[in-house]
Amino acid sequence: MIISMGMESQWPNFISVRSLILRLLIATHYFSFVQTVRAVGCVEECSALLLFKRSFSIDESAFDEPLSCAKVASWTQHGGERSNCCSWDGVECDEDSGHVIRLDLRSSCLYGSINSNSTLFHLVHLQRLDLSDNDFHGSEIPSRLGHDLTSLTYLNLSNSAFSGQIPSEISKLSKLSTLDLTSYTSHLKLTKGNLRSLVQNLTNIKKLHLGGVDIYSTVPDILVNASSLTSLQLVNCGLYGEFPVGIFHLPNFEVLYVRSNSDLTGYFPTFNKSNVFKKLDVAGTNFSGQLPTSLGNLHSLIVFAISSCNFHPNVPSSIGNLTQLSYLSMSSFNDVSKGKLSVSFSWVGKLTKLYHLSLGDTNIEGELPSWLMKLTQLTTLILDDNNLQGPIPRSLFQLKNLEYLLLSGNKLSGLVEFDQFSKLKRLKGLDLSNNMLSVGIRNDLSATLPKLQTLALGFCNLTEFPNFLKNQSELIELDLSYNKIYGRIPKWVSNATRETLSELYLYKNFLTGFDQNQGILPWPNLTILSLGSNMLQGPLPIPPQSIRFYDVEYNEYTGEISPLFCNFNNLQVLWLSNNNLSGMLPQCLGNSSVLEILGLHNNFFNGYIPPICPSKTSLRIVDFSYNQLQGKLPRGVMNCTRLKVLNFANNQMSDIFPSWLGALPELRILILRSNGFHGVIRKPATKHEFPKLRIIDLCNNGFSGMLPSNYLEIWNSMKYVDENQRTYFEVNTNVLGGHYFNNDYAMTISGKGGELKYKKTPYLLTVIDLSSNRFEGEIPEGPVGNLRGLVLLNLSNNSLTGHIPSSLGDLAALESLDLSQNQLLGRIPSNLAQLTFLAYFNVSHNHLSGPIPLGEQFNTFQEDSYEGNSGLCGKPLPKKCEDFESSTRPPPSIMEEDEDSVFQIALDWYVVVPGVVSGLIVGVVVGNILTTKKHEWFVETFSRRRKPRGTRARKGRRT
Ligand SMILES: *[C@@H]1O[C@H](CO)[C@@H](O)[C@H](O)[C@H]1NC(C)=O
Ligand SMILES: *[C@@H]1O[C@H](CO)[C@@H](O)[C@H](O)[C@H]1NC(C)=O
Ligand SMILES: *[C@@H]1O[C@H](CO)[C@@H](O)[C@H](O)[C@H]1NC(C)=O
Ligand SMILES: *[C@@H]1O[C@H](CO)[C@@H](O)[C@H](O)[C@H]1NC(C)=O
Repeated sequence: MIISMGMESQWPNFISVRSLILRLLIATHYFSFVQTVRAVGCVEECSALLLFKRSFSIDESAFDEPLSCAKVASWTQHGGERSNCCSWDGVECDEDSGHVIRLDLRSSCLYGSINSNSTLFHLVHLQRLDLSDNDFHGSEIPSRLGHDLTSLTYLNLSNSAFSGQIPSEISKLSKLSTLDLTSYTSHLKLTKGNLRSLVQNLTNIKKLHLGGVDIYSTVPDILVNASSLTSLQLVNCGLYGEFPVGIFHLPNFEVLYVRSNSDLTGYFPTFNKSNVFKKLDVAGTNFSGQLPTSLGNLHSLIVFAISSCNFHPNVPSSIGNLTQLSYLSMSSFNDVSKGKLSVSFSWVGKLTKLYHLSLGDTNIEGELPSWLMKLTQLTTLILDDNNLQGPIPRSLFQLKNLEYLLLSGNKLSGLVEFDQFSKLKRLKGLDLSNNMLSVGIRNDLSATLPKLQTLALGFCNLTEFPNFLKNQSELIELDLSYNKIYGRIPKWVSNATRETLSELYLYKNFLTGFDQNQGILPWPNLTILSLGSNMLQGPLPIPPQSIRFYDVEYNEYTGEISPLFCNFNNLQVLWLSNNNLSGMLPQCLGNSSVLEILGLHNNFFNGYIPPICPSKTSLRIVDFSYNQLQGKLPRGVMNCTRLKVLNFANNQMSDIFPSWLGALPELRILILRSNGFHGVIRKPATKHEFPKLRIIDLCNNGFSGMLPSNYLEIWNSMKYVDENQRTYFEVNTNVLGGHYFNNDYAMTISGKGGELKYKKTPYLLTVIDLSSNRFEGEIPEGPVGNLRGLVLLNLSNNSLTGHIPSSLGDLAALESLDLSQNQLLGRIPSNLAQLTFLAYFNVSHNHLSGPIPLGEQFNTFQEDSYEGNSGLCGKPLPKKCEDFESSTRPPPSIMEEDEDSVFQIALDWYVVVPGVVSGLIVGVVVGNILTTKKHEWFVETFSRRRKPRGTRARKGRRT
């Protein structure tokens, strides 16, 4: 047989290879004779190909289109007697030499890995290799590729589940003109500096596509010398630094995709008419500056995406000249002047080829613009979070191609007759949430409506489940939050949506339970369940195995947490706070390696705390506060290396200060108030303890000894006011790859003379509360004065002695200072008057004397701030300072603490009350822990940066 010819001792396992091929051929019943043979492949190469194929299993089930798996399956059959692999599907040989020069195994269902001894490396004449869209199962890209296949000009390994380091040898492929290693679902990494050497050596590179690869470097400026470059795609690579502007001037440059690199800065240059740009996508970066009028010169532009950037809000209307544009994405394109400038987008009406238009959060005002109706090709229209008013016009329903319509977060009003959506036959996704709309739904509507995948009618004044849901059998996502739906969730809702529904949001209604399957949720594919703020009763409903996000806070659920919850291997978020749950916690609860949030606040759980993080886990919020838990803090918390919040307030725990928590690198909020913690707080083990701590509340325990001044010295993140733009602390969870949730953190601490209930924790809030313990000794002057980010400081109700350190006057961010009920002596330092944000000041019940400082904030404090210090004088006390020595008046009468103090904020979710209390950071949203979600079709895949919803109630405010 021809197959044995020429198989010299190339491979040590020659015999077995040959017999393998023989068996292959014999097993083939059908031998086809190649009709036109243009080139006869070298036998070695054909064998190598077969062996290469045999090193994989062909896994049809793992791929969307198993049909394409036929490609390599046909190889043996076409082999025939002459074994001419040149005619095989996906193989191409050089006409003269007969060497295999092209191998296209794109989407060929290959499953396995490529070892260093793979026969692929015998195909040394390969010029083009495409192994994209297969499953290499997390294996590494073999470095031999760079050694042996040096003739390659085209290499495509994209989306093939390679992971690990990209071998530096790749940069030896100096003939490459196309390199595509795009990989969003696996973890490919490029070592620091390697992007540079890649660019340096690949002097012929035209297309460099490394989307999703962890690069974490700057964009090397030598790229401006890559004169052949036509396409640069570096989406979501963790790039930072400034994008070299010279790249825009490369003569043949057509495509730039650098979306989702939030730390990448850059700007657009002046473009001239010779530019051949087709696609420009910098969305989700920190690009800034003016949008140049010369953008109008990019006459070939098809894609222009600048969402979630930092550009100046002036938009040149010359963009309206870009009549080839079909994709325009400008949502949140500027962060600077949010809410100030109204921008006209009327030029968009000239872009009649647009099929994707995204102008969310761009401050568009007025009615839905009439120019929209000219855009008859539109399939996606995104206008959320603007100031659109008035009714939804009938003309909108003339956009017959619409598939996705997102109008949430505006001020649209009036009645929407839902049957109008019957005209949009292609509609798949609809979001009308958070307007002032009422939705009118006829009972006989169902049959004519398109089958939707996403339906969001939050805040639409619904009083019952829409009848048409009976026919919505393709629904994946249903959001009816913030309505007035009473009673039970009817059986027919779940019947229709049983097979498809994956996300259910019914937050903030008046629901009491489910009509059927008491206790077990009927949707087998449910991943997200949001039932918070209803009146749901009985035991916790049991979700299916697929569940990832389970939020039932603020309900009336009773009973224990079923041990079944331990089996939900995908569960990332579990919010059970504010129910009437009781009993012991299942031992396995904190066991999962994917669980990120465990919120059990305010229930009646008792007994000992189960082990948390028995091994490394992803837990980031652990909140067991306001229960009846006992015992020690489980030492396993040490293993929760990603933990940001640990809250055990108001339980019955008994332990010494858990200084070992100091090793947790991410810990930001530590609240142990009102328990039986006790003992002396010893020195930190190293200078790097609690590197990110911003809030520590040890109030109302039994700690004794001196104030932990060594800790005060090293809490570095409290030493500065971080000018970060984020307004609230959030933990972002990425559920199901495409859905992002910004989980706010609600907490209660004390300050300003009352209880502060934060429904969301302001990002800059920095707190030390050591009050109501048995601390003694002096307040350490130096360490305290360094904590310049501090907002609330409470040392009250201890046995502190000595003077009030004047260094407190350096704490420029301080809003609340409570030193009451100690044994402090001497004067109140006059420089405290320079604390312009100080809204609450209490030194009552000490042994202070002398004059009260004068100054703006000090003019606002009442007598009760000073009572119980017989030696103090001056305003607001009746005792004048000149008769300081001789005063015999009694101390001023005790003023009652207002229990319903203004600090107990309960604002409605869309209302902001500016400056309820001067100095207090206001802007609180009621109980909505789940604040932000974005539809997959909006998220515009792979964005790292999320914009919080409801910006109206967002900004921190100081007066
Ligand atoms: C190739 O190497 C792997 C290990 O790297 C080994 O398991 C396999 O048997 C080798 N295959 C051949 C054909 O030598
Ligand atoms: C690489 O292959 C994918 C298909 O798997 C294709 O979409 C992509 O365009 C190819 N890349 C280049 C640069 O040709
Ligand atoms: C481009 O737009 C500007 C401003 O809208 C306009 O003045 C100019 O005439 C346009 N040029 C072309 C070629 O349409
Ligand atoms: C921390 O995790 C390791 C395994 O990674 C485990 O052996 C150890 O017992 C854990 N520590 C505690 C205190 O649970």
